[in-house]
Amino acid sequence: MIDKEIKKRLVLALDVEDINEAKELVDSLNPYIGTFKVGLQLFCGYGLEIINYIKEKNSNFFLDVKLHDIPNTVEKASYNIIKNGANFFNVHATGGIEMMRVAKKGALEACEKYNKKPPIILAVTMLTSISQEILENELLNNTNIETLVIELAKNAKKAGLDGVVASARELKAIKKELGNDFIVLTPGIRPSWSVVDDQKRIATPKSAIIDGADYIVLGRAITKAHDKIEAIKKIYQEIKEEN
Ligand code: C5P
Repeated sequence: MIDKEIKKRLVLALDVEDINEAKELVDSLNPYIGTFKVGLQLFCGYGLEIINYIKEKNSNFFLDVKLHDIPNTVEKASYNIIKNGANFFNVHATGGIEMMRVAKKGALEACEKYNKKPPIILAVTMLTSISQEILENELLNNTNIETLVIELAKNAKKAGLDGVVASARELKAIKKELGNDFIVLTPGIRPSWSVVDDQKRIATPKSAIIDGADYIVLGRAITKAHDKIEAIKKIYQEIKEEN
């Protein structure tokens, strides 16, 4: 795989407390990372400041705020997300097909108004923090969690969304059921040489890509590395190497 194709697939999770730390990560890793992911932690702390900083650097950004509300609210929020320049954002599939459908509608209206390219809108099926036990005992749902993930992914496709966020464990089944064009963005990525932290269903960058991940989310494997540039270069090398 050539470097440009690798870069496109790499998403860096800017999960840091401090805006200056986030800005430093953007500055140093911009040549290697296709998309910077701004999650709730950073967004609630620094909102548009970090978003505008990423935009100034001409990099893509993924607003990972997992919208889940009544359709009207989600539609208007999606409009504003695009107005502010996101290239990716996500919603909870458990918000229902209509909510997902109008997320896209709101986003496309903003694209037309502000002359922007359509974004990639992804659905979160089941949070990986929800176990089978929680599903049954707290959410009173006895469906097998893997079955539920596939059914929610089908709903996302029906609603016109582009894909889902899914762990490496679910990757192959989703591609098989929903088709290769249905985008899968995979977190829980750990190169063989990095620490696992609290992630349970992990994959290496290379194995996730071989299994079909369109985008992989790199977080602490890079942000906590002693030498971040060396770590990212190692990941490029591993992905490029023949099997
Ligand atoms: O540091 P680490 O690589 O574990 O970061 C993974 C990123 O992916 C975090 O931003 C986390 O919120 C996100 N994520 C996840 N599992 C999901 C969905 C998102 O780890 N199911």
